[in-house]
Amino acid sequence: MPPPSSPPPTPPGTTLSTPSPTELHDQDPTAAEASKPTMSASPRKLKHIYLVVATTPCKNGQLGIGLNGKLPWPMIRADMNYFRDVTRDGASGGTSARTDSENDGKVRNSVIMGRKTYESIPPKFRPLGARTNVIVTRSEPVDVARSVVGDLQQQAREARGKKAELEQKRSPDPTPSIAQQLKMAGAEFGVVGDDGGATVAVQSQPEDAVSGVVVESSLRLAAESCLSQPGEVYCIGGAEIYNALLGDERLRPRLRILQTEIKKVNEGEEFECDTFWSEELEDPKNGWSEAQTGELVGWTGVDPPQGTSMDWVEDQKVGVRLRVRGWEQRGT
Ligand SMILES: NC(=O)c1ccc[n+]([C@@H]2O[C@H](COP(=O)([O-])OP(=O)(O)OC[C@H]3O[C@@H](n4cnc5c(N)ncnc54)[C@H](OP(=O)(O)O)[C@@H]3O)[C@@H](O)[C@H]2O)c1
Repeated sequence: MPPPSSPPPTPPGTTLSTPSPTELHDQDPTAAEASKPTMSASPRKLKHIYLVVATTPCKNGQLGIGLNGKLPWPMIRADMNYFRDVTRDGASGGTSARTDSENDGKVRNSVIMGRKTYESIPPKFRPLGARTNVIVTRSEPVDVARSVVGDLQQQAREARGKKAELEQKRSPDPTPSIAQQLKMAGAEFGVVGDDGGATVAVQSQPEDAVSGVVVESSLRLAAESCLSQPGEVYCIGGAEIYNALLGDERLRPRLRILQTEIKKVNEGEEFECDTFWSEELEDPKNGWSEAQTGELVGWTGVDPPQGTSMDWVEDQKVGVRLRVRGWEQRGT
């Protein structure tokens, strides 16, 4: 399918404008945001970047997060659902979990990820639906964007097959999620900002066939750009990207961590891992304080798998126990 011929508009919820180096050094968006006038007497609340990570203890004493470019464990439904509900529908100050059927396909939040994590998502699920997907790379952003277009073209071919099948069966009105998939059947995709720049976007026509996708060569700019837009900002990995954000002095105070702890039910058994989480959250010198479960729900509007307690919940099928913990920098 040919790419759209006219210059395509930027995907919803994305921007191609990047601050100049002077802006980047002279103007801290943290300070700019805090000084904006508000209707209430209390100062405007700063937005956070939530690092969403699932960890498992390993024999080497470290917390594992990946193996061979994938997750070390088979699909754990409760964790996947939590990840989806938080990153897609999460809103700080929220009070209750939303369910799959309540999602209207609107893009509210951004997910920032490394190029390898994008590639670790099964092709039929990427880019992640109803979220602005921000992929960071040190190579040419346009090359990564073209590979995203390739994924979308494959999904469009599958959607055309599904549409033909439904028409043949004369199926009644499709469910909202199938209707969203069917939008892909007639969609076309292209790359905008393809001029050697640091930021490139993937465009779809019709515009709402897929979430916005932006490819950035600067993690700092990607994070600041997301913070300046409506909606929540989630960093979904992997290790290199978590480390870069945790090591960024300006962004570190804005970080919150949503950590799903996963451990095998059978004592003494562990998942093999080759990629690890490096921040010691319990070490007081690193400045993290743990959220109470109530606070955790307030951060996202989504109940963690363990509900309102800090108890572990069990997935008998996979043979694991899990629970979510929340962390923020003291004083934020
Ligand atoms: N358990 C979890 O919660 C979780 C979450 C996410 C991922 N994972 C796992 O973690 C593994 C992937 O992690 P990873 O550390 O290998 O890769 P990653 O962080 O996902 O991606 C690394 C890539 O991101 C780009 N990059 C890194 N730092 C950058 C920077 N400062 N600026 C611009 N681009 C930058 C580079 O892309 P280029 O090479 O294109 O230049 C680099 O190769 C997989 O096994 C995955 O399944 C686990």
